Amino acid sequence: MQELKVSNDTSAFEVPVALDESGRLSDYCVRQALTMMDTHGLVVLTNLLSDQEADIGLDLMRRTINDPDRSRSAFASETDNSYLRRDFCSLPSTPPVKGFAAMLCQRLEGVLSEYCGRSRPVLEVATFTSYLGSSHQYIHRDPSGVISMFAAVEDVSAQQGGTVFVPGTHMYGGAGNNHGGQAYALMELFRTRANYRIFIHNFRKLWHMSKGGDAPLAPGEFLDRVFSTKWDQHQPNLLRFVLGKNAQFSLRMLGPRTLWKLYRQREALDKLFTLVQMAPRKGTVILYRSDLLHAGPDNRSPHPRHFFGMSIARDIIETKYWHDGYSPHPTLTADPICLGDLLDAPPASASPKTANHRLRTLVD
Ligand SMILES: [Fe+2]
Repeated sequence: MQELKVSNDTSAFEVPVALDESGRLSDYCVRQALTMMDTHGLVVLTNLLSDQEADIGLDLMRRTINDPDRSRSAFASETDNSYLRRDFCSLPSTPPVKGFAAMLCQRLEGVLSEYCGRSRPVLEVATFTSYLGSSHQYIHRDPSGVISMFAAVEDVSAQQGGTVFVPGTHMYGGAGNNHGGQAYALMELFRTRANYRIFIHNFRKLWHMSKGGDAPLAPGEFLDRVFSTKWDQHQPNLLRFVLGKNAQFSLRMLGPRTLWKLYRQREALDKLFTLVQMAPRKGTVILYRSDLLHAGPDNRSPHPRHFFGMSIARDIIETKYWHDGYSPHPTLTADPICLGDLLDAPPASASPKTANHRLRTLVD
């Protein structure tokens, strides 16, 4: 169980975007993207948005982040949120926000419609910001049956903490039969090993911060992140780790049989799975199947990291299950939106000059 090792090579998951005459992803791109989604559980669509279109998203997000009455998300790490290490908040269903979401959905219709019918609900439209000193989330799966999207509205460096994925760990009919019927057990072992390393990484970092590192701790922050009894799945909380109160990673997961399996399977795990961290350029959009193993890393730079995010259900979804993993804005809860609404809504648009610049007709 050594250091947390992460690859920054995302080339195997990237599709350079080309649009057709109607401004949607070309058929060739759609086919490539679907192959990536099915094979790896994610696809990285580079240059989906022009700089000006990404700026529209960033402006909407900034307006929400600067609003003292914004609607904060609860699920990611409440402690990080309360100490302003992260600022995850949902975006209101205003016409500009719906227009930006509509532009993304319409451009990606060929891919999204393969998984989500028109009547399927939009679960969340949100902005995910992380600051220096945030914790690295544990590797986890989001509630299943959802397609999620991150849009980079600025360049995101590896230091700023673009999302980490474990490609090929999504769940589908028969996936568990892979690797001699051991696929899910091996994924779980890999997750346990990675989360042990994340626990150590977070704890070391917090210790460094407590000694006056780059991001000084606020009064009470160390105790809240290490010994608090409060629910938070993504802190190096020793108390909750020992008491087995953290569903993502706790001492209960490190029994003698698991430790033996981790030792025996260490080479197989290295061969089968890799942690891959995104560092998307402005305008890149990442789509992933919600049950793919992933985590939001810590921001190790002084520059805030922003993502625009949206999630759409692939099936009916029970309300409590929905709210366990996603934080819809009260305006979205009061007036639900489905994929079809966004496909029919007027999309946000940058200047005509920009739009023309982006439009490319492809010969497949
Ligand atoms: Fe997640």
